Amino acid sequence: MTSVPQPTAPEPAAPAPGGREPIVQVVDLVKHFPLTQGIVFKKQVGAVKAVDGVSFDLFRGETLGIVGESGCGKSTVARLLMNLEVPTAGQVLYKGEDITRLSGRALKAVRRNIQMVFQDPYTSLNPRMTVGDIIGEPFDIHPEVAPKGDRRRRVRELLDVVGLNPEYINRYPHQFSGGQRQRIGIARGLALRPEVIVADEPVSALDVSVQAQVINLMERLQHEFGLSYMVIAHDLSIVRHISDRVGVMYLGKIVEIGSDEAIYEHPTHPYTQALLSAVPVPDPEARERRERILLSGDVPSPADPPSGCRFRTRCFKAQARCAVEEPPLAVPEVFRGTGSPAGHLSACHFAAEMPLVVPGE
Ligand SMILES: Nc1ncnc2c1ncn2[C@@H]1O[C@H](COP(=O)(O)OP(=O)(O)O)[C@@H](O)[C@H]1O
Ligand code: SF4
Ligand SMILES: [Mg+2]
Repeated sequence: MTSVPQPTAPEPAAPAPGGREPIVQVVDLVKHFPLTQGIVFKKQVGAVKAVDGVSFDLFRGETLGIVGESGCGKSTVARLLMNLEVPTAGQVLYKGEDITRLSGRALKAVRRNIQMVFQDPYTSLNPRMTVGDIIGEPFDIHPEVAPKGDRRRRVRELLDVVGLNPEYINRYPHQFSGGQRQRIGIARGLALRPEVIVADEPVSALDVSVQAQVINLMERLQHEFGLSYMVIAHDLSIVRHISDRVGVMYLGKIVEIGSDEAIYEHPTHPYTQALLSAVPVPDPEARERRERILLSGDVPSPADPPSGCRFRTRCFKAQARCAVEEPPLAVPEVFRGTGSPAGHLSACHFAAEMPLVVPGE
């Protein structure tokens, strides 16, 4: 007897790549910092458009890398995601709930689940606190996670998890190297068993030789604890190593976003192409062959971004249309329905692939 196909459960409203569901959704997020003049009577004379309409999903269990030059708004996105800033407009949904307007207990509950690892392990750890107190500090705010009598055991466990000797629990930050301090920062981030970790340039302040160790640790912890990561970096090679998907930011906007293969092997936005052309490649022969795309001029002020496409003042492909029409972040028409990895979101009127020599994974 042949089996009759059974009706299956309906698809979720927004099916995700690979069937995964988004854990965090950022929707049209805007953060403008007012620019004021005058000392007594402050008058607003403009605004720094640090984040200016950013949307992306973070899927459960994935690592989303966010890259872009200094000042493009990466840390502000991170702070908005952590609810450390109030957005000017837009939403941050955590499991479908907008967390930007939460307060009191509801906010505290969400905060527990989204934790941050900071860039500089030298300044982000209080020098007067022992490592045990630093890692155990989140338990003061959330005593329900670890009752007082159990905290030192939990901290020792966390030290062990991040590859540090649990006997170091009474030492002070200055007794550790940079890499070890970042492990302490990561242990503190893990203390409350969060679901999401936002890491803002987690290895930028470290020696190149220890960067890989910390990244490897983060990858191991992601699998062990089922974490979802948003990792911010200005270094594209670091992001490639750790990310499943990558978003490229320029002057408060995401200009291109896609799988790591799409962004590194098939970038279509001139800004991404220029950034990739500047990443060091170790192979001398490849270095000979590559052409570097030089960006003209400096990054314009986010208080007064260029009309149309914000990248146009530095773009090697800019045309008249770019000054008057803002390119939407969309799959460029030429790639639509082609199935090509170049068919990912890119905010350029003239999105196209170009031959690039890029560093491998
Ligand atoms: N609290 C603030 N007040 C005013 N301007 C700010 C503030 N925080 C950030 N900015 C400005 O917003 C822009 C984006 O900053 P940031 O998010 O730190 O960028 P990134 O992390 O990519 O270097 C910069 O021009 C920065 O000077
Ligand atoms: S829209 Fe125009 S200025 Fe902007 S990236 Fe594309 S070609 Fe360059
Ligand atoms: Mg930053």
